[in-house]
Amino acid sequence: MLSYILYTALALLPLLLYYWRNPYILKDISYAIAAIKVGIRLSKSGKNFRSILDDFLDAVKKHPHKNFIVFEDSSYTYSQADRESNKVARALSAHVQLKQGDTAALFLGNEPLFVWMWLGLAKLGCTASLLNYNIRSKSLLHCFSCCDAKVLIAGADLRGAVEEVLPTLKQQGIQVLILSDKCDVEGIESFSDKIQQASDEPVSPQLRANLNLKSPALYIYTSGTTGLPKAAVLNHERMLMASYLQSMSGIHSDDVIYIYLPLYHSAGFLMGLCGAIERGSITVVLRRKFSASNFWNDCRKYNVTVIQYIGEIMRYLCNSPKKDNERDHKVRLALGNGIRADTWADFLQRFGDIHICECYGATEGNVGFVNYIGKVGAIGRENFFHKRFVSYALIRYDTEKEEPVRDSKGFCIKVPTGETGLLVGKISRTTPFSGYAKNKQQTEKKKLKNVFETGDLYFNSGDLLRIDDEGFVYFQDRIGDTFRWKGENVATTEVSDHLLAVGFIEEANVYGVKVPGHEGRIGMAALKLKENMDFDCKATYQHVKSYLPSYARPRFIRIQDDLAVTGTFKQMKVKLAEEGFNPAVIKDPLFFLEDNKGYVPMTQETFNSISEGTLRL
Ligand SMILES: *[C@@H]1O[C@H](CO)[C@@H](O)[C@H](O)[C@H]1NC(C)=O
Repeated sequence: MLSYILYTALALLPLLLYYWRNPYILKDISYAIAAIKVGIRLSKSGKNFRSILDDFLDAVKKHPHKNFIVFEDSSYTYSQADRESNKVARALSAHVQLKQGDTAALFLGNEPLFVWMWLGLAKLGCTASLLNYNIRSKSLLHCFSCCDAKVLIAGADLRGAVEEVLPTLKQQGIQVLILSDKCDVEGIESFSDKIQQASDEPVSPQLRANLNLKSPALYIYTSGTTGLPKAAVLNHERMLMASYLQSMSGIHSDDVIYIYLPLYHSAGFLMGLCGAIERGSITVVLRRKFSASNFWNDCRKYNVTVIQYIGEIMRYLCNSPKKDNERDHKVRLALGNGIRADTWADFLQRFGDIHICECYGATEGNVGFVNYIGKVGAIGRENFFHKRFVSYALIRYDTEKEEPVRDSKGFCIKVPTGETGLLVGKISRTTPFSGYAKNKQQTEKKKLKNVFETGDLYFNSGDLLRIDDEGFVYFQDRIGDTFRWKGENVATTEVSDHLLAVGFIEEANVYGVKVPGHEGRIGMAALKLKENMDFDCKATYQHVKSYLPSYARPRFIRIQDDLAVTGTFKQMKVKLAEEGFNPAVIKDPLFFLEDNKGYVPMTQETFNSISEGTLRL
């Protein structure tokens, strides 16, 4: 592997000369070197299996007394975290009889216990399934059953959500643990008391001796086209690769990183937490959830040097009232995805010289980009090195037919530089796609066959990107059945399924519409009602409120006599999305979901307030 990389580097020399006019050459080379180092480390981890847990144990040995997690008014050193997770591992093996290869589902919010639970599971060689704590009822059961977990471990504050699905879990013989000292509900066992009583001595590494890089390490849920979330299977190799992103972005072992994004998503967990562990001795300042008013205070209080973001967060920060001390902080780098060019410029102007490192990648995807240059607006940069090792392309895409355009021979067509195309990544040994647990159909759906030659296989990212002639990559749009709102993917079919459960709704077509001044798209639904039925605002609101997290609830509803379909009976979304929610343009009855109130008829006044930004969604 090493010699192969060196020879390739030599072979690339003429290419480097060719690139002499490139003003970013030094940064490109240093990024390529970082990538080579990562490649070497990954190949070593394969020969003599090492996982992210081994990185953690090394850090414990080297800096036992350094702070690992800081949370609210408590802090925990690496050594304390090690001992806490030993207790978890011992309590789990005693009370649940978990052994390597078993899966446990974690259903809890951002708190230190989340980290101890995961580390404890890793010490037993178990796979952790990270459930989104916003999901309920049918979605919760679905996600839980995707990963064949033996046990559901829930945070104390989520007891109500667990009780709702308890009868089904009982039927399936699932053990249910709650992270509190006591529990008097039949069928739910308290677990915090068991952890406290357990010994904090390390468990034997023999317990995890059969793992290798290809063993499943995590399930992370992503919204998909199916309707219900899909469990992306991440093996140890993928986890290590994701953890290297911090090192590739120039984060050092003495940085302090602020994590408020949910640990059940890959941004918070892989890029944030695992990246910090990989760096060796980083202190993680963990927060239950984002708070615009506490953000900079926290950064000052804890000497935070690195923040993570999603585009929405950067906008909230820019929209918050100006303060005199807002440049008084030690933040030097922001790592994340989805910041808009105008917010980017605002952010730098207000909060000082912070290097913004935009990254692109999907949890289950096999291609990623990093904008290590800091070019405003770009999500990444093509690198000669990257191009050599990862085979990807932007192909022409027909948004009406919702499929790639093919030439007379049936192959896909690469778009010329500067044009928008669908990103596809070749599936190979070094760039695998592990697919979704228990969901062959969706796994197959993400694969694109016969792209450039007969028999080849590509991962369909579902994202439309553009690459300019300098090699900067720009995000354009997301295709198909999902859209993003407030940093969450919303699966349109999942929302439709819930709407269809409302008695008087016959058909539902859910899509995302753009809102001025907001990233992503907000949910809107076109509905066809059953014959002689009226739209009942109250019943619809009650239903979506009980079954959908707030970011997935349709904010606008449009009642139509008939929903348009394509020749192949697929719902037409593009045109509806373009038409938006302006009552002056749309003659169908329109409703708006008002915060804490419910659906009300949409007015021109509401539309104007939204357009002017006085009403924030
Ligand atoms: C932050 O840095 C200052 C100055 O270097 C130091 O006095 C303070 O103790 C640090 N605070 C924390 C929470 O580490």
